[in-house]
Amino acid sequence: MASDVHFGDDEGYRGLRRVLTYGTFDLLHYGHIRLLRRAAALGDYLVVALSTDEFNASKGKQSFYSYGVRKEMLEAIRYVDLVIPEESWEQKLSDIEKYQIDTVVMGADWADSPRFDYLRERCNLVFLDRTEGISTTDVKKELKE
Ligand code: CTP
Repeated sequence: MASDVHFGDDEGYRGLRRVLTYGTFDLLHYGHIRLLRRAAALGDYLVVALSTDEFNASKGKQSFYSYGVRKEMLEAIRYVDLVIPEESWEQKLSDIEKYQIDTVVMGADWADSPRFDYLRERCNLVFLDRTEGISTTDVKKELKE
């Protein structure tokens, strides 16, 4: 799978409805899979911006699996067409332009926040409800107990 794609250069990508979502996707679980399936259903081509280990460290987070392993697993999922690195909070507008994104999908945890309103000028913004009862944090906690 190509690690970098320039849609404008390739006729084959014209007309596709492209969706973009962000996350860490550590210890991949069914909540992630359902989110990816629903995000993919909003278009024809799903791009996942995957938080790098350095970006997570800047947020005080450390994933169990490295970026490379998390990327490899996401790329094996049929709903995912392309995985790109998420390295900063500020890259969203340039991602939208570079990958010609029509719809950005966020977890509903952000739905009440105006934080991403600025994206609405450039694309659709959709918040998807989380799957109840599962999170990477919960899995880590339960395995520890
Ligand atoms: N997600 C979801 N349902 C869940 C868990 C996650 O729909 N039960 C979604 C999030 O809303 C986000 C994406 O999956 O859009 C990636 O979430 P991420 O934060 O990587 O996963 P979490 O399991 O929430 O991890 P953590 O506990 O570390 O926050």
